[in-house]
Amino acid sequence: MKKIAIVYWPLHGNVSRAAKKIHSLIAEKADLFDLASFSSLEIQQYDYFIVGNSTVGADAWQDANTKDKWLPFFKQMEFEEISMEGKKVALFGLGDQILYPDHFIDGLAILKNEFEKLGAEIHGEWSSEGYEHTGSQAEKHGKFFGLALDEDHQDNQTETRAEKWLQQLSKFGF
Ligand SMILES: Cc1cc2nc3c(=O)[nH]c(=O)nc-3n(C[C@H](O)[C@H](O)[C@H](O)COP(=O)(O)O)c2cc1C
Repeated sequence: MKKIAIVYWPLHGNVSRAAKKIHSLIAEKADLFDLASFSSLEIQQYDYFIVGNSTVGADAWQDANTKDKWLPFFKQMEFEEISMEGKKVALFGLGDQILYPDHFIDGLAILKNEFEKLGAEIHGEWSSEGYEHTGSQAEKHGKFFGLALDEDHQDNQTETRAEKWLQQLSKFGF
């Protein structure tokens, strides 16, 4: 049993590619799941989670793409009364800072909020220097709530950012 679960959604795009990249950097200690093949049963098996999503521009999840599996996942967790007390969660988010400068990786704020409601500790803040966005719901005091990745405009930085972020996370036991 490895100690970290990397969980991502959606499939077949930039999030999936970033999740696989992150996994390749720590494959010796992490298992990779897309959200459709992950359930509350797996939650019990791990103490560390790296989770990722993308932002698709909806103001509220009710308006979001119905293929998005994060909302039903959190509803199910609530229904099953699953607690993530004592579990550590680090977040990564995909966005486009040029086309959506005022809402860059906003969706990461939703993940943070939902995992905190479950009792998880959030780790892995990431400096917002080096990005051209003008606003983000996932940023506070110059830091994003997790690793911000932009495969549309800064794909050449993804690997270095992921390596540096994972190094920072290792100080918290990841
Ligand atoms: C309809 C639509 C809306 C988007 N809205 C946002 C947004 O509000 N903020 C942002 O940072 N990126 C936004 N993006 C960009 C995506 O998040 C980005 O391209 C991401 O890499 C997509 O990853 P995926 O293919 O795995 O979903 C949007 C993309 C689309 C297609």
